[in-house]
Amino acid sequence: MASDAARETLEFQDVHGSLLVFGPGSVRALADALPPGSRRVFLVSDDTVMGLHGPRVRAALRGLEVVPLAFRAGEASKTRATLARIQDRMSARGVDRGCVVVALGGGVVSDLAGLAAATLLRGLVLVNVPTTLVGAVDAAIGGKNGVDTPRGKNLLGTFHWPRAVIVDFDLLATLPPDQWRAGLAEVLKHGVVSEPGLLDDVEAAARALARGRLPGPDLLRRAAMVKARVVAKDPYERGLRRILNFGHTVGHAIESATGYAVGHGAAVATGMVVESRIACRVTGLGASEASRILQIVRALGLPAEPPCGFEQALLYVRNDKKSLHGAIRMSLPRAIGEMDDAGGDHAVPVPPSVIEACWNER
Ligand SMILES: NC(=O)c1ccc[n+]([C@@H]2O[C@H](COP(=O)([O-])OP(=O)(O)OC[C@H]3O[C@@H](n4cnc5c(N)ncnc54)[C@H](O)[C@@H]3O)[C@@H](O)[C@H]2O)c1
Ligand SMILES: [Zn+2]
Repeated sequence: MASDAARETLEFQDVHGSLLVFGPGSVRALADALPPGSRRVFLVSDDTVMGLHGPRVRAALRGLEVVPLAFRAGEASKTRATLARIQDRMSARGVDRGCVVVALGGGVVSDLAGLAAATLLRGLVLVNVPTTLVGAVDAAIGGKNGVDTPRGKNLLGTFHWPRAVIVDFDLLATLPPDQWRAGLAEVLKHGVVSEPGLLDDVEAAARALARGRLPGPDLLRRAAMVKARVVAKDPYERGLRRILNFGHTVGHAIESATGYAVGHGAAVATGMVVESRIACRVTGLGASEASRILQIVRALGLPAEPPCGFEQALLYVRNDKKSLHGAIRMSLPRAIGEMDDAGGDHAVPVPPSVIEACWNER
């Protein structure tokens, strides 16, 4: 898909028919990732990222009609109201199946743009261009999208696989250190669920960040490939894919209970600490392994203890998408690198009393 010059620096992976492209400057090949004959591109972003990287992306799409659609940055925008505004602006501009949606930004952008692409005319082609570490190693890959509702995180959404995911490391150069730390929480999660070697790398990245040095493309690529491998085996989350939810039952509840004052990565970091304590009681995770997760979260400067009481979060824990017939279920490790498969369900029932005890454990 890329010109010869660009191809030398790019790598391609096919994940469930979705092209994953890594490479510095790879966004220059964006136009090649669109279906032949594409005419109009809806470029969806938040106001921060559109300002920083919109011009570069528009330059890559020269010759096509580009309609920029930006919303206010932040999780508070991930609502049905923002989705409706995006859908209405696309409709007003004129949509047919020759239109393409390009999501330029972090996970909030790809979740909103993905859902808009999935619903307009029952499905427009989507291309994701992640600009955060969370986006590059997780949110942009795998076809899930969604918005939050008053009952909790991501409760409305679909699976709509992107035609391509273009990970251009250069676009992450403007990402603030806190967002790198937040992203490293998801990399730690990928390590715990299936690649223990990543834990050493996250520790090294935490030390480097403290000295002002950013993680390199190699870590990003390896973490992204963990997600790619899992979602390729279980594209529609019938079982195995739930392992990527480690730390997220508690993490999502913290985000919702605090009105999204705590960001996704930080909430997931706390979620992994609490859920690894739960795993020690329920799935036999070793105490030293739980303590290693805790130490890495601390080394990243992310919060280890929940910022709110268990009673404030319980409703949201119950509303988690893995809950079944009234039972709260979590994706829990048996060891670092080995998740409990719970008989193929990959979601283990956990009594509220155990969650409460681990929530309050110090
Ligand atoms: N669909 C999925 O599979 C999936 C997976 C993981 C996370 N998520 C979702 O992703 C969201 C979290 O993603 P996120 O952390 O990327 O959030 P985000 O999109 O809100 O980005 C975080 C912040 O960084 C800013 N930013 C983004 N790129 C930048 C850049 N290059 N330079 C400077 N600033 C930049 C944004 O404006 C924003 O303020 C959550 O809503 C979570 O539920 C979805
Ligand atoms: Zn996450």
